[in-house]
Amino acid sequence: MTHREFSDPILQQKFNELERKNKEALLGGGEKRIEQQHAKGKLTARERIHLLLDEGSFEEMGKFVMHRCKDFGLDKEYYLGDGVITGFGTINGRLVYVFSQDFTVFGGSLSETHAEKIVKLMDLAMKNGAPLIGLNDSGGARIQEGVLSLGGYADIFYRNTLASGVIPQISAIMGPCAGGAVYSPAITDFIFMVENTSFMFVTGPNVVKTVTHEDVTSEELGGAITHSTKSGVTHFACANGLECIQQIKQLLSYIPQNCEEDPPRLPYTPGDEKRVKLNSIIPSNPNQPYDMREVIDQVVDEGSFFEVHKNFAENIVVGFARLAGRSVGVIGNQPASLAGVLDIDASVKGARFVRFCDCFNIPLLVLEDVPGFLPGTDQEWNGIITNGAKLLYAFSEATVPRVTVITRKAYGGAYDVMNSKHIGADLNYAWPTAEIAVMGAKGAAEIIFKKEIAEADDPVAKLNEKVEEYTRKFANPYRAAHRGYIDEVIYPDQTREKLIRAYQMLENKVAKLPKKKHGNIPL
Ligand code: HXC
Repeated sequence: MTHREFSDPILQQKFNELERKNKEALLGGGEKRIEQQHAKGKLTARERIHLLLDEGSFEEMGKFVMHRCKDFGLDKEYYLGDGVITGFGTINGRLVYVFSQDFTVFGGSLSETHAEKIVKLMDLAMKNGAPLIGLNDSGGARIQEGVLSLGGYADIFYRNTLASGVIPQISAIMGPCAGGAVYSPAITDFIFMVENTSFMFVTGPNVVKTVTHEDVTSEELGGAITHSTKSGVTHFACANGLECIQQIKQLLSYIPQNCEEDPPRLPYTPGDEKRVKLNSIIPSNPNQPYDMREVIDQVVDEGSFFEVHKNFAENIVVGFARLAGRSVGVIGNQPASLAGVLDIDASVKGARFVRFCDCFNIPLLVLEDVPGFLPGTDQEWNGIITNGAKLLYAFSEATVPRVTVITRKAYGGAYDVMNSKHIGADLNYAWPTAEIAVMGAKGAAEIIFKKEIAEADDPVAKLNEKVEEYTRKFANPYRAAHRGYIDEVIYPDQTREKLIRAYQMLENKVAKLPKKKHGNIPL
């Protein structure tokens, strides 16, 4: 068994203990199988569970289940548990249900019985209202079993769908995940992938080569980096299995057990909430970028921001944080990337996050600095209309407490979309640097004073004069504030204090949507 060193002494102790237990392990593979898994840089299915759950809390179910297939030599090879360890336990004292696929048993492939074990767990998780965590490491449908394994997958997909919005569902991809198998994780709320040892694709490199003549490796096609940066399929790319497990635990700390509960709350002692650093973040030049993460870090409880989808659509930043000990979902435009413009990826990323928070009673905080939607044929032809509408729809539908702070630009349709008062935000604040207008002053002046500028003796001077006039009139928060679209213009250093009070005031918010079967979000 390969010994490993961890920087965290508790994890090291746990790992040492596992090392000892694994030496005695009989289920899910003995010494040789464990070695095989470690040789690939992977933890075993059982190690993963032990590292994930509170010490001694795991209760295993279905230990003695074995496959029923007798074809293709399977009548001669049986393993207790049939390639998946299922059960329940606690993480920081809170109940969770876990399944962990064992690649050392028929490549972790999903048989009829393997699926039945997962289905049983899902049903229990639903009935008892606790998160379901899937640790995936599987070659997909057990080929020898044919339609029985396909049916097993469908049974899981169906339950993933029914459980969506009822209990949090988390998928960690810690090995292969191919073919239709990817659709279970895809329906769950969050996907974690481990770099270099995991991949996800509908069709693998060989089929790709045959059909499209592209040469591509598994890692390029569907590795953690690909899915965390290009496709956005995965929310978290982790350096190794251990980091993946730590991050799952961190994520759970922000979210409730089910849709009927509030998220866990940490104790909070009121203190000096003024954050003077916020006064100097916005550059004097309105076209100069800054990092919205700096604003987030100053506003939320120290060190509490946990970013989701960090490397995908970086022009919008989303993640969980705590404000006075209470969970909030933060959505911020990011001026440091593409000037914070909204494009297709950013809209979808934001919409998905908003909907998760709304499902699970997590209040929303929007930090807005957005110059509009990204123009161009690429965006139009790929459906910025439909995709931008997803974000608009997600905010409009959300009934959790919703607060917006406009730090700088709120231009055009993006002003409406980013949790404006008009679509149901509860409180809308603006910093004095806010510019709320149909578009930037220069673009606006060029259109509405086109003739005047063209006929002027000095067109450049005229343009500048008109830009200044437009800026004076619209590039500020006061016209919106006169109308009540902005509830208060606040100094940046007051933001944290204002938000703490805002969410306290909104704590018992009740908002109901019109009675319907379900809405029809523009997919
Ligand atoms: C049965 C499987 C299996 C499978 C792997 N094994 N996948 N057994 N059904 N789907 C077995 C292998 O025969 C081998 O057994 C052991 O697991 C380890 O596999 P290796 O190939 O030696 O491992 P590795 O080289 O690491 O490659 C892993 C792999 C490869 C990339 C996952 O095994 C692979 O391509 N498997 C098939 C993937 C696939 O096409 N699955 C079906 C996808 S379609 P021994 O006895 O030699 O140790 C699908 C449909 C779902 O899943 C539909 C839902 C709607």
